[in-house]
Amino acid sequence: MLNGKNIVLGVSGGIAVYKAVALTSKLTQAGANVKVVMTKHAAEFVTPLTFQAISRNEVYMDTFKEKDPKKIAHIDLADWADVFILAPATAHLIGRMANGLADDMLTTVLLATKAPVYIAPAMNVHMYDHPAVQQNMNILDQWGYKFIEPGEGYLACGYIGKGRLEEPEKIITLIESDLQQKKKWCGKKVLISAGPTREQVDPVRFFSNFSSGKMGYALAEKAVELGAEVHLVSGPTSLPTPRGVIAYDVTTAEEMFEQIVNLYAEMDIVIKSAAVADYRPVQTFDHKMKKKDGPLTIKIERTKDILQYLGDTKAHQFLVGFAAETQDILYYGKEKLTKKNLDAVVINDIGRKDIGFNSEQNEVVYLSKKGSEKRLKRMNKKQVAKQLLELMDSEVRKD
Ligand code: CTP
Repeated sequence: MLNGKNIVLGVSGGIAVYKAVALTSKLTQAGANVKVVMTKHAAEFVTPLTFQAISRNEVYMDTFKEKDPKKIAHIDLADWADVFILAPATAHLIGRMANGLADDMLTTVLLATKAPVYIAPAMNVHMYDHPAVQQNMNILDQWGYKFIEPGEGYLACGYIGKGRLEEPEKIITLIESDLQQKKKWCGKKVLISAGPTREQVDPVRFFSNFSSGKMGYALAEKAVELGAEVHLVSGPTSLPTPRGVIAYDVTTAEEMFEQIVNLYAEMDIVIKSAAVADYRPVQTFDHKMKKKDGPLTIKIERTKDILQYLGDTKAHQFLVGFAAETQDILYYGKEKLTKKNLDAVVINDIGRKDIGFNSEQNEVVYLSKKGSEKRLKRMNKKQVAKQLLELMDSEVRKD
Protein backbone atom coordinates (compact mmCIF):
# COMPACT_ATOMS: atom_id res chain seq x y z
CA MET A 1 0.00 0.00 0.00
CA LEU A 2 2.86 2.39 0.69
CA ASN A 3 4.62 1.62 -2.58
CA GLY A 4 5.12 4.88 -4.47
CA LYS A 5 3.63 6.99 -1.67
CA ASN A 6 5.34 10.21 -0.61
CA ILE A 7 5.87 10.06 3.13
CA VAL A 8 7.14 12.86 5.33
CA LEU A 9 8.55 11.46 8.56
CA GLY A 10 8.72 14.03 11.36
CA VAL A 11 11.22 13.12 14.07
CA SER A 12 11.32 14.90 17.41
CA GLY A 13 13.84 14.61 20.22
CA GLY A 14 13.53 11.50 22.36
CA ILE A 15 15.58 8.40 22.87
CA ALA A 16 13.22 6.53 20.51
CA VAL A 17 14.73 8.42 17.57
CA TYR A 18 16.81 5.30 16.89
CA LYS A 19 13.58 3.45 16.07
CA ALA A 20 12.72 6.17 13.55
CA VAL A 21 15.86 5.14 11.68
CA ALA A 22 14.50 1.60 11.42
CA LEU A 23 11.10 2.98 10.40
CA THR A 24 12.71 5.01 7.60
CA SER A 25 14.45 1.91 6.38
CA LYS A 26 11.27 -0.20 6.43
CA LEU A 27 9.30 2.50 4.64
CA THR A 28 11.86 2.80 1.85
CA GLN A 29 12.01 -0.99 1.56
CA ALA A 30 8.22 -0.94 1.15
CA GLY A 31 8.73 1.31 -1.90
CA ALA A 32 7.79 4.63 -0.30
CA ASN A 33 9.61 7.90 -0.99
CA VAL A 34 10.59 9.20 2.43
CA LYS A 35 11.64 12.72 3.36
CA VAL A 36 12.62 13.30 6.97
CA VAL A 37 12.08 16.50 8.94
CA MET A 38 13.93 16.64 12.27
CA THR A 39 13.65 18.97 15.22
CA LYS A 40 16.97 20.27 16.49
CA HIS A 41 16.57 18.14 19.64
CA ALA A 42 16.12 15.01 17.53
CA ALA A 43 19.52 15.74 15.98
CA GLU A 44 21.02 15.50 19.49
CA PHE A 45 20.24 11.77 19.41
CA VAL A 46 20.92 10.80 15.79
CA THR A 47 22.56 12.90 13.08
CA PRO A 48 20.61 14.05 10.02
CA LEU A 49 23.19 12.25 7.90
CA THR A 50 21.92 8.89 9.14
CA PHE A 51 18.39 9.68 7.92
CA GLN A 52 19.73 11.14 4.69
CA ALA A 53 21.73 7.98 3.94
CA ILE A 54 18.75 5.69 4.60
CA SER A 55 16.04 7.77 2.94
CA ARG A 56 18.33 8.87 0.07
CA ASN A 57 16.79 12.29 0.45
CA GLU A 58 17.86 15.57 1.94
CA VAL A 59 16.84 15.98 5.61
CA TYR A 60 15.00 19.17 6.63
CA MET A 61 15.58 21.04 9.90
CA ASP A 62 15.79 24.76 9.26
CA THR A 63 12.77 26.71 7.99
CA PHE A 64 14.99 29.46 6.63
CA LYS A 65 17.34 27.26 4.65
CA GLU A 66 15.68 27.88 1.30
CA LYS A 67 17.85 26.07 -1.21
CA ASP A 68 15.64 26.41 -4.28
CA PRO A 69 14.58 30.03 -4.97
CA LYS A 70 11.64 28.78 -7.06
CA LYS A 71 10.05 27.07 -4.07
CA ILE A 72 9.09 27.75 -0.48
CA ALA A 73 10.47 24.62 1.15
CA HIS A 74 7.92 24.10 3.95
CA ILE A 75 4.93 24.56 1.61
CA ASP A 76 6.50 22.41 -1.07
CA LEU A 77 7.10 19.61 1.42
CA ALA A 78 3.61 19.95 2.90
CA ASP A 79 2.06 19.62 -0.57
CA TRP A 80 4.38 16.76 -1.57
CA ALA A 81 3.27 14.52 1.31
CA ASP A 82 0.65 11.82 0.75
CA VAL A 83 1.09 10.68 4.33
CA PHE A 84 2.71 12.34 7.35
CA ILE A 85 4.13 10.28 10.21
CA LEU A 86 5.45 11.68 13.49
CA ALA A 87 7.67 9.15 15.22
CA PRO A 88 8.69 9.64 17.91
CA ALA A 89 6.31 12.45 18.87
CA THR A 90 7.44 13.98 22.17
CA ALA A 91 5.18 15.68 24.71
CA HIS A 92 6.70 18.98 23.58
CA LEU A 93 5.90 18.41 19.90
CA ILE A 94 2.33 17.34 20.77
CA GLY A 95 1.95 20.46 22.93
CA ARG A 96 3.21 22.75 20.19
CA MET A 97 0.86 21.19 17.64
CA ALA A 98 -2.16 21.42 19.94
CA ASN A 99 -1.46 25.15 20.29
CA GLY A 100 -1.00 25.78 16.60
CA LEU A 101 2.64 26.82 16.97
CA ALA A 102 4.93 26.98 13.96
CA ASP A 103 8.30 27.77 15.46
CA ASP A 104 10.45 25.34 13.47
CA MET A 105 10.46 23.51 10.15
CA LEU A 106 8.51 20.48 11.42
CA THR A 107 5.62 22.36 13.03
CA THR A 108 5.43 24.75 10.07
CA VAL A 109 5.12 21.92 7.54
CA LEU A 110 2.55 20.25 9.82
CA LEU A 111 0.34 23.33 9.79
CA ALA A 112 0.56 23.59 6.02
CA THR A 113 -0.10 19.97 5.09
CA LYS A 114 -3.42 18.51 4.01
CA ALA A 115 -2.10 14.95 4.20
CA PRO A 116 -3.33 12.55 6.90
CA VAL A 117 -1.06 12.82 9.94
CA TYR A 118 -0.24 9.79 12.12
CA ILE A 119 1.26 10.57 15.52
CA ALA A 120 3.28 7.92 17.37
CA PRO A 121 4.02 9.32 20.84
CA ALA A 122 6.94 8.21 22.97
CA MET A 123 7.70 9.48 26.45
CA ASN A 124 7.84 8.56 30.12
CA VAL A 125 4.65 6.95 31.47
CA HIS A 126 3.93 9.81 33.92
CA MET A 127 4.44 12.38 31.20
CA TYR A 128 2.05 10.42 28.96
CA ASP A 129 -0.59 10.32 31.70
CA HIS A 130 -0.22 14.02 32.59
CA PRO A 131 -3.50 15.91 32.05
CA ALA A 132 -1.72 18.52 29.91
CA VAL A 133 -0.46 15.86 27.50
CA GLN A 134 -3.80 14.03 27.53
CA GLN A 135 -5.65 17.27 26.83
CA ASN A 136 -3.29 18.16 23.98
CA MET A 137 -3.79 14.70 22.47
CA ASN A 138 -7.57 15.08 22.79
CA ILE A 139 -7.42 18.38 20.92
CA LEU A 140 -5.40 16.82 18.12
CA ASP A 141 -7.74 13.82 18.05
CA GLN A 142 -10.71 16.17 17.61
CA TRP A 143 -8.91 17.86 14.74
CA GLY A 144 -8.63 14.52 12.97
CA TYR A 145 -5.02 13.56 13.70
CA LYS A 146 -4.53 9.80 14.13
CA PHE A 147 -2.67 8.37 17.10
CA ILE A 148 -0.60 5.22 17.10
CA GLU A 149 -0.69 4.41 20.77
CA PRO A 150 2.61 3.76 22.51
CA GLY A 151 3.22 0.25 23.71
CA GLU A 152 3.73 -0.83 27.31
CA GLY A 153 7.06 -2.09 28.56
CA TYR A 154 10.47 -0.99 29.74
CA LEU A 155 11.04 2.70 29.12
CA ALA A 156 14.46 4.28 28.66
CA CYS A 157 13.96 6.19 31.93
CA GLY A 158 13.80 2.91 33.86
CA TYR A 159 10.03 2.86 34.41
CA ILE A 160 7.76 0.13 33.14
CA GLY A 161 4.54 1.45 31.63
CA LYS A 162 2.89 3.01 28.64
CA GLY A 163 5.10 5.32 26.62
CA ARG A 164 7.29 3.13 24.43
CA LEU A 165 7.24 4.05 20.74
CA GLU A 166 5.31 1.42 18.84
CA GLU A 167 7.52 -0.93 16.81
CA PRO A 168 8.22 0.23 13.23
CA GLU A 169 6.55 -2.85 11.66
CA LYS A 170 3.40 -2.26 13.72
CA ILE A 171 3.35 1.46 12.82
CA ILE A 172 3.45 0.52 9.14
CA THR A 173 0.72 -2.14 9.48
CA LEU A 174 -1.59 0.27 11.33
CA ILE A 175 -1.11 3.00 8.74
CA GLU A 176 -1.65 0.56 5.86
CA SER A 177 -4.89 -0.75 7.30
CA ASP A 178 -6.08 2.80 7.94
CA LEU A 179 -5.31 3.81 4.35
CA GLN A 180 -7.13 0.69 3.16
CA GLN A 181 -10.21 1.80 5.11
CA LYS A 182 -10.09 5.15 3.33
CA LYS A 183 -10.81 3.46 0.03
CA LYS A 184 -14.13 1.94 1.12
CA TRP A 185 -16.35 4.96 0.56
CA CYS A 186 -14.10 6.76 -1.88
CA GLY A 187 -16.32 8.53 -4.42
CA LYS A 188 -19.40 8.33 -2.17
CA LYS A 189 -21.24 11.41 -0.99
CA VAL A 190 -22.57 11.22 2.53
CA LEU A 191 -24.92 13.67 4.20
CA ILE A 192 -25.11 13.71 7.99
CA SER A 193 -27.35 15.90 10.11
CA ALA A 194 -26.40 16.53 13.73
CA GLY A 195 -27.19 18.47 16.86
CA PRO A 196 -30.41 20.10 18.02
CA THR A 197 -32.39 22.83 16.32
CA ARG A 198 -33.44 26.05 18.02
CA GLU A 199 -36.88 27.55 17.57
CA GLN A 200 -36.91 31.15 18.64
CA VAL A 201 -39.60 32.68 20.85
CA ASP A 202 -38.15 36.18 21.20
CA PRO A 203 -34.63 37.73 21.07
CA VAL A 204 -33.62 36.00 24.32
CA ARG A 205 -35.52 32.70 24.37
CA PHE A 206 -35.84 29.56 22.29
CA PHE A 207 -37.16 25.98 22.37
CA SER A 208 -34.54 23.31 21.90
CA ASN A 209 -33.42 19.95 23.29
CA PHE A 210 -30.44 18.34 25.03
CA SER A 211 -28.71 17.00 21.91
CA SER A 212 -24.95 17.74 21.96
CA GLY A 213 -24.28 16.69 18.36
CA LYS A 214 -21.50 14.31 19.50
CA MET A 215 -22.95 11.24 17.77
CA GLY A 216 -23.44 13.00 14.43
CA TYR A 217 -20.00 14.61 14.53
CA ALA A 218 -18.42 11.23 15.33
CA LEU A 219 -20.24 9.73 12.32
CA ALA A 220 -18.99 12.57 10.10
CA GLU A 221 -15.41 12.08 11.27
CA LYS A 222 -15.53 8.33 10.68
CA ALA A 223 -17.18 8.73 7.25
CA VAL A 224 -14.27 10.99 6.22
CA GLU A 225 -11.93 8.20 7.34
CA LEU A 226 -13.69 5.84 4.94
CA GLY A 227 -12.84 8.25 2.13
CA ALA A 228 -16.33 9.71 1.58
CA GLU A 229 -17.13 13.31 0.69
CA VAL A 230 -18.97 14.27 3.85
CA HIS A 231 -21.56 17.05 4.16
CA LEU A 232 -22.47 17.85 7.76
CA VAL A 233 -25.61 19.89 8.35
CA SER A 234 -25.53 20.88 11.98
CA GLY A 235 -27.70 22.74 14.44
CA PRO A 236 -25.96 24.80 17.16
CA THR A 237 -23.31 22.79 19.06
CA SER A 238 -20.05 23.59 20.80
CA LEU A 239 -18.10 21.02 18.79
CA PRO A 240 -15.31 21.78 16.31
CA THR A 241 -15.99 20.79 12.71
CA PRO A 242 -14.19 17.48 12.03
CA ARG A 243 -11.29 17.72 9.61
CA GLY A 244 -12.20 17.16 5.97
CA VAL A 245 -15.93 17.72 6.43
CA ILE A 246 -17.99 20.22 4.42
CA ALA A 247 -20.02 21.97 7.13
CA TYR A 248 -23.33 23.85 6.94
CA ASP A 249 -24.47 25.61 10.09
CA VAL A 250 -28.19 25.97 10.58
CA THR A 251 -30.34 27.02 13.51
CA THR A 252 -34.00 26.15 12.95
CA ALA A 253 -35.76 23.01 11.70
CA GLU A 254 -36.87 24.98 8.65
CA GLU A 255 -33.26 25.99 7.80
CA MET A 256 -32.15 22.38 8.29
CA PHE A 257 -34.93 21.20 5.97
CA GLU A 258 -33.92 23.71 3.23
CA GLN A 259 -30.22 22.83 3.43
CA ILE A 260 -30.77 19.07 3.42
CA VAL A 261 -33.28 19.14 0.59
CA ASN A 262 -30.80 21.21 -1.47
CA LEU A 263 -28.14 18.54 -1.10
CA TYR A 264 -30.32 15.40 -1.14
CA ALA A 265 -30.42 14.54 -4.87
CA GLU A 266 -26.65 14.15 -5.21
CA MET A 267 -26.11 12.14 -2.01
CA ASP A 268 -25.51 8.37 -1.83
CA ILE A 269 -25.95 7.88 1.91
CA VAL A 270 -27.96 10.09 4.26
CA ILE A 271 -27.77 9.72 8.03
CA LYS A 272 -30.17 11.83 10.04
CA SER A 273 -28.87 11.90 13.58
CA ALA A 274 -30.09 15.44 14.32
CA ALA A 275 -32.62 15.95 17.10
CA VAL A 276 -34.96 18.18 15.14
CA ALA A 277 -37.56 20.15 17.10
CA ASP A 278 -41.03 18.81 16.30
CA TYR A 279 -42.68 22.11 17.23
CA ARG A 280 -41.90 25.81 16.96
CA PRO A 281 -43.67 28.92 18.23
CA VAL A 282 -46.36 30.14 15.83
CA GLN A 283 -45.03 33.64 16.34
CA THR A 284 -41.48 34.91 16.99
CA PHE A 285 -41.49 38.24 18.79
CA ASP A 286 -39.06 41.01 17.75
CA HIS A 287 -38.93 42.35 21.30
CA LYS A 288 -38.35 40.57 24.58
CA MET A 289 -41.63 39.27 26.02
CA LYS A 290 -42.22 41.03 29.34
CA LYS A 291 -43.43 38.94 32.22
CA LYS A 292 -46.98 39.30 33.43
CA ASP A 293 -48.88 37.89 36.38
CA GLY A 294 -50.39 34.46 35.86
CA PRO A 295 -49.58 31.61 33.49
CA LEU A 296 -48.39 32.17 29.95
CA THR A 297 -49.50 30.20 26.92
CA ILE A 298 -47.26 30.09 23.86
CA LYS A 299 -48.92 28.65 20.79
CA ILE A 300 -46.71 26.19 18.97
CA GLU A 301 -47.04 24.47 15.60
CA ARG A 302 -45.49 21.44 13.91
CA THR A 303 -42.23 21.78 12.01
CA LYS A 304 -41.66 19.74 8.86
CA ASP A 305 -40.60 16.15 9.44
CA ILE A 306 -37.42 16.24 7.37
CA LEU A 307 -36.77 12.50 7.48
CA GLN A 308 -40.33 11.70 6.47
CA TYR A 309 -39.93 14.01 3.46
CA LEU A 310 -36.61 12.32 2.53
CA GLY A 311 -38.22 8.88 2.83
CA ASP A 312 -41.20 9.91 0.70
CA THR A 313 -39.01 11.36 -2.07
CA LYS A 314 -36.21 8.79 -1.89
CA ALA A 315 -34.57 7.69 -5.17
CA HIS A 316 -31.20 5.87 -5.02
CA GLN A 317 -30.14 7.05 -1.53
CA PHE A 318 -29.44 4.73 1.43
CA LEU A 319 -31.44 6.51 4.11
CA VAL A 320 -30.74 6.08 7.81
CA GLY A 321 -32.78 7.64 10.60
CA PHE A 322 -32.28 7.80 14.34
CA ALA A 323 -35.00 7.01 16.81
CA ALA A 324 -34.82 8.61 20.23
CA GLU A 325 -37.02 6.53 22.49
CA THR A 326 -37.68 6.19 26.21
CA GLN A 327 -39.93 3.09 26.20
CA ASP A 328 -40.64 0.04 23.98
CA ILE A 329 -37.62 1.15 22.01
CA LEU A 330 -37.59 -1.72 19.50
CA TYR A 331 -41.29 -1.41 18.77
CA TYR A 332 -41.14 2.34 18.13
CA GLY A 333 -37.84 2.04 16.25
CA LYS A 334 -39.33 -0.54 13.86
CA GLU A 335 -42.36 1.66 13.39
CA LYS A 336 -40.14 4.60 12.30
CA LEU A 337 -38.19 2.35 9.94
CA THR A 338 -41.35 1.46 8.04
CA LYS A 339 -43.30 4.68 8.36
CA LYS A 340 -40.45 6.91 7.21
CA ASN A 341 -39.41 4.50 4.41
CA LEU A 342 -35.87 4.10 5.79
CA ASP A 343 -33.15 1.61 4.87
CA ALA A 344 -32.02 1.50 8.47
CA VAL A 345 -32.75 3.00 11.84
CA VAL A 346 -30.44 3.51 14.84
CA ILE A 347 -32.37 3.28 18.08
CA ASN A 348 -31.21 5.26 21.09
CA ASP A 349 -32.61 4.71 24.57
CA ILE A 350 -32.61 8.33 25.73
CA GLY A 351 -34.26 7.42 29.04
CA ARG A 352 -30.89 6.21 30.34
CA LYS A 353 -28.62 8.75 31.99
CA ASP A 354 -25.34 6.91 31.27
CA ILE A 355 -25.71 6.98 27.49
CA GLY A 356 -27.28 9.12 24.78
CA PHE A 357 -27.75 12.89 24.95
CA ASN A 358 -24.61 14.78 25.91
CA SER A 359 -22.89 11.65 27.15
CA GLU A 360 -19.50 10.49 25.77
CA GLN A 361 -20.88 7.00 25.39
CA ASN A 362 -23.74 5.38 23.59
CA GLU A 363 -25.42 2.01 23.29
CA VAL A 364 -27.68 1.58 20.27
CA VAL A 365 -29.63 -0.96 18.27
CA TYR A 366 -29.22 -0.98 14.49
CA LEU A 367 -32.20 -2.27 12.53
CA SER A 368 -32.32 -2.47 8.77
CA LYS A 369 -35.01 -2.91 6.17
CA LYS A 370 -33.22 -6.06 4.99
CA GLY A 371 -33.76 -7.54 8.42
CA SER A 372 -30.49 -7.14 10.24
CA GLU A 373 -30.81 -6.39 13.95
CA LYS A 374 -27.60 -5.61 15.80
CA ARG A 375 -27.24 -4.42 19.36
CA LEU A 376 -24.00 -2.48 19.85
CA LYS A 377 -22.71 -2.68 23.39
CA ARG A 378 -21.95 0.47 25.34
CA MET A 379 -18.81 2.23 24.08
CA ASN A 380 -17.61 5.71 23.22
CA LYS A 381 -19.44 7.50 20.44
CA LYS A 382 -16.52 7.34 17.99
CA GLN A 383 -16.44 3.55 18.32
CA VAL A 384 -20.23 3.39 17.94
CA ALA A 385 -19.93 5.57 14.82
CA LYS A 386 -17.25 3.32 13.32
CA GLN A 387 -19.33 0.19 13.88
CA LEU A 388 -22.53 1.77 12.57
CA LEU A 389 -20.77 2.80 9.35
CA GLU A 390 -19.42 -0.74 8.96
CA LEU A 391 -22.97 -2.11 9.28
CA MET A 392 -24.24 0.41 6.72
CA ASP A 393 -21.29 -0.36 4.44
CA SER A 394 -22.10 -4.08 4.34
CA GLU A 395 -25.65 -3.26 3.22
CA VAL A 396 -24.77 -0.49 0.77
CA ARG A 397 -22.28 -2.83 -0.93
CA LYS A 398 -24.91 -5.56 -1.39
CA ASP A 399 -27.10 -3.17 -3.42
N1 CTP B 1 -36.71 14.01 12.36
C1 CTP B 1 -36.73 14.91 11.32
N2 CTP B 1 -37.55 15.98 11.37
C2 CTP B 1 -38.33 16.22 12.43
C3 CTP B 1 -38.32 15.31 13.53
C4 CTP B 1 -37.48 14.21 13.46
O1 CTP B 1 -36.00 14.69 10.34
N3 CTP B 1 -39.11 17.30 12.47
C5 CTP B 1 -35.84 12.83 12.25
C6 CTP B 1 -34.70 12.80 13.24
O2 CTP B 1 -33.54 13.40 12.70
C7 CTP B 1 -34.48 11.31 13.45
C8 CTP B 1 -35.88 10.72 13.23
O3 CTP B 1 -36.62 11.71 12.53
O4 CTP B 1 -33.63 10.75 12.48
C9 CTP B 1 -36.63 10.32 14.46
O5 CTP B 1 -36.69 11.38 15.36
P1 CTP B 1 -37.40 11.20 16.78
O6 CTP B 1 -37.32 12.48 17.52
O7 CTP B 1 -36.92 9.94 17.42
O8 CTP B 1 -38.89 10.87 16.39
P2 CTP B 1 -40.05 11.69 15.73
O9 CTP B 1 -40.08 11.36 14.27
O10 CTP B 1 -39.97 13.14 16.07
O11 CTP B 1 -41.31 10.99 16.38
P3 CTP B 1 -41.79 10.95 17.93
O12 CTP B 1 -41.60 12.34 18.47
O13 CTP B 1 -43.20 10.54 17.84
O14 CTP B 1 -40.93 9.92 18.62
